[in-house]
Amino acid sequence: MRNFNSRREWLKKSSLTILTGLTASSSSLAFSDKIRVFADEMIHLDKNENPFGVSPMAMKALQGALSEGHRYAVASTKDTLLQKLAAREGLNPENFLTTAGSVEVLGLTSIYVSRNKGSVICPYPTFATLPNNCQRLGMELINVPISGDKIIDLEAMKAKIKDDTRLVYLCNPNNPTGTILEAKLLRDFVEEVSKKTIVMVDEAYFEFLNQSVADLVKANKNVLVSRTFSKVYGFAGLRVGYLIGHADTIKDMAKYQATSTLGISNVVLHAAIAALDDKEFLAMYLKKNREAADFTYKALKEMNIAAVPTQGNFMMFPIDTYKGKFGADMAAKKILLRDDFKELNGNKWGRVSIGTIGEMKAFVEAMKQISW
Ligand SMILES: Cc1ncc(COP(=O)(O)O)c(C=O)c1O
Repeated sequence: MRNFNSRREWLKKSSLTILTGLTASSSSLAFSDKIRVFADEMIHLDKNENPFGVSPMAMKALQGALSEGHRYAVASTKDTLLQKLAAREGLNPENFLTTAGSVEVLGLTSIYVSRNKGSVICPYPTFATLPNNCQRLGMELINVPISGDKIIDLEAMKAKIKDDTRLVYLCNPNNPTGTILEAKLLRDFVEEVSKKTIVMVDEAYFEFLNQSVADLVKANKNVLVSRTFSKVYGFAGLRVGYLIGHADTIKDMAKYQATSTLGISNVVLHAAIAALDDKEFLAMYLKKNREAADFTYKALKEMNIAAVPTQGNFMMFPIDTYKGKFGADMAAKKILLRDDFKELNGNKWGRVSIGTIGEMKAFVEAMKQISW
């Protein structure tokens, strides 16, 4: 077992990029497998960010648009983004509402569905923003445990629907499990449940599987889809998300948004428009993410840790048998990750974001050094 000093030496010997604030350019990050130690000297594997930086085409657009940073966004720039999104989905611009990151979509949805209180049904565990928001706004939160194979239990969720249920929310792939629902099963579920109440499918990781229920919004006012640029396009710090829904529902929900054009900065809007064309970056990231995820899964298996196979850029693994304080012990090895997921049956889980292959090797090495 190596001590911390030898780990520092190892980090030094590895090919490292030290990210000090804004000094590392996107082009120096994109396509590079290096470990990225941030200015805080930590390897960030806790927030499911894109480890390869902002899409290079978006970065170029950002740099070009910076000189317009003194201007407010104009409606025509947002319209260009809406048109591009609509063309990609085979929908109309009226089916979209753009936001500063998809947590704004989730916040807006929480406000919208909680107008008359009532209940909201969510799988557990899942991405906590919407369930927490709904609860804070006075709704009853009904958590439905995931199944033994860590897949969202659609039948159990359906069985919980009551007269006062205003929303059924789920993520596909689910965060933190990384598991997905079979396309037809999910589609049938959304079609059936939307006869009774609003259904939102959070597709933050949609590009990882290219499977969506977005087309259902054409004819169905009760179907909502949440999306983000934070993941595959590397916009977590730039903040662009969007809601997809029936044109009437979008119009109704837009009343609760503080501003329709100014939420995303003028500069970032240009970047989002460019990112949608960056097919090379997208393909590179999906390929490298798959390779790094497979490497991580195998390495954990060799340590007798049965991780859950992931369809996203993060991986959940059991930490029940860990003797110390898992998150703190990994942080002491310079790896930031999550150690706070708990199933309703009490099982505890860690979640590591999939970084570059270099970062995943550092993660595995740290896992071997702590006391299991
Ligand atoms: C399922 C899910 N939805 C939404 C978000 C929020 O992302 P953002 O607000 O950056 O778009 C995340 C972020 O991790 C997520 O995992």
